[in-house]
Amino acid sequence: TSVAPCDFVVFGGTGDLAVRKLLPALYLRDRDGQLTPETRVVAAARAGLDDAGYRDKIRGEIPRFVPADQIDDAALDRFIARLSYVEVDFAHEDGWPDLTHLLEPRPDVVRVFYLACSPQLFGPVSARLAEHGLVTEASRVVLEKPIGHDLDSAREVNDAVGAVFDEYQIFRIDHYLGKESVQNLLVTRFANTFLEPLWNNACIDHVQITVAESLGVGTRGGYYDASGALRDMVQNHLLQLLCLVAMEPPTYVDRETVRDEKLKVLQALRPMTQQDVGRLTVAGQYGPGLAEGSAVPSYQQEVEHPDSRTETFVAIKAEVQNWRWAGVPFYLRTGKRMDRRCSEIVIEFKPVPHPMFPGSDGTSEPNRLVIQLQPDEGMRLHMTAKEPGPGGIRLRPVSLNLNYEQTFQRRSPDAYERLLMDVVRGNPTLFMRRDEVEAAWAWVEPILINWAQAEHGPRRYPAGTSGPTAATTLIERDGRAWYEGSI
Ligand code: BG6
Repeated sequence: TSVAPCDFVVFGGTGDLAVRKLLPALYLRDRDGQLTPETRVVAAARAGLDDAGYRDKIRGEIPRFVPADQIDDAALDRFIARLSYVEVDFAHEDGWPDLTHLLEPRPDVVRVFYLACSPQLFGPVSARLAEHGLVTEASRVVLEKPIGHDLDSAREVNDAVGAVFDEYQIFRIDHYLGKESVQNLLVTRFANTFLEPLWNNACIDHVQITVAESLGVGTRGGYYDASGALRDMVQNHLLQLLCLVAMEPPTYVDRETVRDEKLKVLQALRPMTQQDVGRLTVAGQYGPGLAEGSAVPSYQQEVEHPDSRTETFVAIKAEVQNWRWAGVPFYLRTGKRMDRRCSEIVIEFKPVPHPMFPGSDGTSEPNRLVIQLQPDEGMRLHMTAKEPGPGGIRLRPVSLNLNYEQTFQRRSPDAYERLLMDVVRGNPTLFMRRDEVEAAWAWVEPILINWAQAEHGPRRYPAGTSGPTAATTLIERDGRAWYEGSI
């Protein structure tokens, strides 16, 4: 079903995010009939283009980011005809009258202001929108991460945007929440009965959350070198995943209840003292190495900053201090230039209390629920079975497999497709509320401070490996191991 008529304004409409993610997602939603004929997409940027130039550019770009079998020429023509371009200087006066002129005649349609620009501009752009009378009741603003670079700056950004928009109009995007497998995590937990009674410290030994990328920083070095993996991935994506694993069941699913429960998890994270940071966290940075068989340079070479101490890898042992989770470690790990691209959540159950089968050594592999987000979306339940044969009972690990694409025989939409439509619908359930963002910053802040003051920089790991050895030690000293995809 289609969403309400809309003026979708992208600040930074020629930038990397718009071209790679936002416009392809809007095109796909349009192709599937979700945009009404009146809907327009307006790019606000400083790229010296006009409508025709912008349309040509996007017509060339979409096939680079949308799989060929998803391109329908008539739908693409229709989408391109919705596009227009306005040259706007975000923080100054130039171009704002043109944008106003374009939007003003349609005060009743939903207005989405998507700020795909530097977070320093979130406040100034919001102020300009207000000054020009562009913020209607049916307006929403979408903020891309990072929201600030620490707790204070996040508060400043939130204050500046909050001076113009009410909280219900503010959509802080974390695209991980739009991934099918992430949404399915809630369904798996709360639309089935068999898991929830086991979902606690009586049955679960520990949880691992891994987001490993094989790519390096590529062309985003400028942004990344000032951020690092803790700000880029942990403060948002990994903590959001942790929240969905650990949260209590909300009474029903709506915009506030789910976010209330996630907030409680963030507030229950055991705060890190300065001593804890040394013991419970590892920062790493990739050196030269191999990626898919080819030699690749070090991070420092890639960003042309020979003494950069920015971390490209993080491992953390976290703890959720509440009744359900007391004593269950949550091991988090993320990195660039790792040996493979793989994002997954592993719930490892406790061992059987008493090994009773003779043969082998009588023990079995632990039960694990592996929720795979990337590269394929799916879920596997590892259990122990009897190996067929007449020669007594031999234990063998096996796995029950759910692969989304095979099961549902349909393409999983990109996270942005779902999230952008939620913005137009005015549904912020899958977006981060102000208090969540700030609670997440409050938790990572002692780590940021400790690392910034540390004598030594991040530990090196060769590109194309599973990270620094200190990350292996972090989990092995607890008698556990990172799950590396073997059953
Ligand atoms: C972004 C980070 O938010 O997420 C990137 O800024 C990272 O550094 C990306 O590569 C990973 O997203 P995905 O969907 O490819 O796992």
